[in-house]
Amino acid sequence: MRVVSGIQTTGNLHLGNYLGAIKQWVAMQDEVAAKGGDCLFFLADLHALTVANDPKDLAAHTIEMAATLIAAGIDPAKAVLFNQARVPAHAELCWILQGTARMGWLNRMTQWKDKAGKNREGASVGLFTYPVLQAADVLVYKATHVPVGEDQKQHLELARDIATKFNTDFGVELFPLPDPMISDAAPRIMSLRDGSAKMSKSDPSDMSRVNLIDDDDLIAQKFRKARTDAEPLPDDFKALAERAEARNLVTIYAALADRSPQSVVEEFAGQGFGAFKPALADLAISVLAPIRARLIELRGQPDAVQAHLREGAARATALAAPTLREAQEAVGLQV
Ligand code: TYM
Repeated sequence: MRVVSGIQTTGNLHLGNYLGAIKQWVAMQDEVAAKGGDCLFFLADLHALTVANDPKDLAAHTIEMAATLIAAGIDPAKAVLFNQARVPAHAELCWILQGTARMGWLNRMTQWKDKAGKNREGASVGLFTYPVLQAADVLVYKATHVPVGEDQKQHLELARDIATKFNTDFGVELFPLPDPMISDAAPRIMSLRDGSAKMSKSDPSDMSRVNLIDDDDLIAQKFRKARTDAEPLPDDFKALAERAEARNLVTIYAALADRSPQSVVEEFAGQGFGAFKPALADLAISVLAPIRARLIELRGQPDAVQAHLREGAARATALAAPTLREAQEAVGLQV
């Protein structure tokens, strides 16, 4: 079993990243190690270059996000933690796979359509080929499992298509098909201001997300001001199907408490958000405050965080080397 996943180094980590991905990563690192497998988690700093980025911030964001992952429970002694740019095999395999991926496949990617918007001509080439690098990220380690939030499912399906076509075109069985693992508990956490948009680093409103660095008062304020409706909570979670904001807050509560959304609505049935929101804020604070405290401590030790990244990159480079070599041989490169 080889588990690989990444996170783009633009801005702060938020509750959607935590509940959709990082919490699963932390849970898996012991489980996978016990079975003799590897977990690799990386900061996707090369992916960050596909959108406008201030060079002054990028390295700092990478260190901050690595520190946040460690604070959230990723243990560099158990999981291989590194930044993508320090392992050139990602970019090298990406180039090889650009010969396999088809324009039509990339044109259908919803993230490309959303991010490029009406300005396709002005978007970077990297934004278009972004999912090919993502495919290389997992295939270069022959990943079997990729724990992600639901929004990354389409990119993982593309990685499977690229792997299948590569294996077929070159008559090899090089790449196993990576399995996207999407958490049942928190497939998609939505914005606190708009139940139809996902919680995202790129939302201009900071009130739309809870960042892992937010202090207790700010967390409480964000939940207090979260958009909801005037109805009380029902006793059946399915009855929230048309109430996106209410459904989102119940989903967040359930994921934070490791409970089913149904058991949460049963507990709060008949109560309004005046009662539910403070309970949710208290729960979120109880989970996030210890992460924030560890992060603040780690901010004082940037050299230690960098050392973990360097060591992780060396381990990742060694794990990637044989696959890159096999891919180069499969396409006939003289190396
Ligand atoms: P990124 O940086 O947007 O998000 C990192 C992880 O957090 C999950 N996530 C969410 N889950 C639930 N609700 C949300 N609102 C939410 N927002 C984010 C994402 O699904 C993801 O698992 N392209 C990727 C980074 C990447 C990657 C990879 C992932 C690069 N290479 C290889 C897996 C494998 C991205 O931008 O994720």
